[in-house]
Amino acid sequence: MRLAGKVALVTGAASGIGRAISRLFAQEGAAVVAADVKASEGEELIKEIERGGGRATFILADVSREDDVKGIIARAKESFGRLDIVVNNAGIGGPGYTWEQVIAVNLSGVYYGCLHALPLLREQGGGVIINISSIAGLTGARIPQVVGGYGHAYIAAKHGVIGLTRQFALDGAPEVRVNAICPGWVETPLTRLVWETPPLRDWVIQTTPLGRFARPEEIAKGALFLASDDSSFMTGAILVLDGGWTAY
Ligand SMILES: NC(=O)c1ccc[n+]([C@@H]2O[C@H](COP(=O)([O-])OP(=O)(O)OC[C@H]3O[C@@H](n4cnc5c(N)ncnc54)[C@H](O)[C@@H]3O)[C@@H](O)[C@H]2O)c1
Repeated sequence: MRLAGKVALVTGAASGIGRAISRLFAQEGAAVVAADVKASEGEELIKEIERGGGRATFILADVSREDDVKGIIARAKESFGRLDIVVNNAGIGGPGYTWEQVIAVNLSGVYYGCLHALPLLREQGGGVIINISSIAGLTGARIPQVVGGYGHAYIAAKHGVIGLTRQFALDGAPEVRVNAICPGWVETPLTRLVWETPPLRDWVIQTTPLGRFARPEEIAKGALFLASDDSSFMTGAILVLDGGWTAY
């Protein structure tokens, strides 16, 4: 119960990494405020957490809208009386999205989350912000037969998340710690096109030194470390969970 008595807001909580973080944080004693644009999957997550004896509530919100982000931060405090942990995880990617859409969700969404959570966390005397960046925040990529690697907007947004993490860490210190996670390839709906297409799947396995995709639960464990007092002297830092992808 490493998060007993804490209240955690997780954006993009209905699926993949955000869902795994929400589940693990609830198991570790946090009350979870789960925000997403997918209502039915979000409500299903709440039922699952409650069945396991945890506390959680779902809020329908689009992180690319600043008022929605202000709203979820205020509702988190109203629902459970305080807010201790904010995980800016919501993200989109892959073909079919415009530059503007990807920047709005993956970069502006993180900015709004940091901007509006920080004063509340500081007012309470402390807290933690975790931003989900990516290996796409550290390097470009040459993906076979895919011009533009992860996508220019995705690369720009994820690099931007690292910059925001460093600046908000300075703004928040010493009360609020702000760190980022850079996952490598994780098997979630976001990467379905890659793990369902044999040549792309094989390429990920061959180029990841640990030889496989990560499970969302493995990224959630990194988030738990950053959310808990185990990382009490860590801020402005980047936790790379990529199976060795960026080692060469
Ligand atoms: N899967 C990977 O390999 C991988 C690797 C590195 C980083 N990431 C990052 O991890 C985060 C989670 O990705 P995932 O793989 O779990 O994807 P996912 O598609 O499984 O989940 C993303 C969730 O975000 C929600 N979402 C999308 N736009 C939103 C918005 N505007 N407002 C609120 N919620 C919104 C979706 O509805 C979905 O539930 C993203 O930021 C992604 O860029 C993923």
